Amino acid sequence: MTKTRNEHRGPDREAALAQYRQRAAVYDLELALFEPIRRLAITRLGLQPGDTVLDVGSGTGLSLGLLREGVGGAGRVVGIEQSPPMMEQASERVRQSGWNNVALSCSPVESARIAGQADAAFFHFTHDILLHPEAVSNVVRHLKPGARVVASGLKWAPAWAMPANLFVAAAALRSVTSLEGLREPWSQLGNYLGPLDVTLLWLGSIYIASGTVVAGRAHGRTR
Ligand SMILES: C[S@@+](CC[C@H](N)C(=O)[O-])C[C@H]1O[C@@H](n2cnc3c(N)ncnc32)[C@H](O)[C@@H]1O
Repeated sequence: MTKTRNEHRGPDREAALAQYRQRAAVYDLELALFEPIRRLAITRLGLQPGDTVLDVGSGTGLSLGLLREGVGGAGRVVGIEQSPPMMEQASERVRQSGWNNVALSCSPVESARIAGQADAAFFHFTHDILLHPEAVSNVVRHLKPGARVVASGLKWAPAWAMPANLFVAAAALRSVTSLEGLREPWSQLGNYLGPLDVTLLWLGSIYIASGTVVAGRAHGRTR
């Protein structure tokens, strides 16, 4: 059977760059509906003053302010984002707010140079990145044992809430380049973390998964 455009394929970098080139100007407006989820997900990071937190696939920087509140003036926030127009908006946000402890790197996560070992990592609506084994392992390699990781975003709703999947499909086609893995989008992270706590919201079409990095699992679970 012929495969459709987005099925049964991993993330596509060129398609993602094109997607966010088009979307950057309206992105913040489109995300307004999802802001309560961002706030809730960030509280799950349990950030402490002085922490370093990675904002993985940081987009236009909508999370940066809240992450910065969590780590305080003595902490550090590092945003990693591959789309230049999305990153431009994040840089402007940082410049206008005068945040001097927020560093941004315009790079694919899978090859990003990340300095030091962070205390936490945040993946908010970054399904393409969660599907990318090298991207996930590059992040985890730069986390301390015990570091807290939170991933949140869209997932397929269960059968009893099938109509919710119209919303998931519409939103996913606008924001990801592969529909693979939407049943359990956190599954790759599970190879690196201890038991995951997964909260389902919006009829099971949104998830927040959190866990901590297990010492000795920097290269994933040995199967
Ligand atoms: C739906 S947006 C989420 C942005 C941000 N996390 C937020 O909460 O608003 C997904 C972002 O991931 C970025 N992205 C996708 N694949 C990436 C990769 N491999 N490396 C870096 N950024 C990536 C996209 O360019 C886009 O800005």
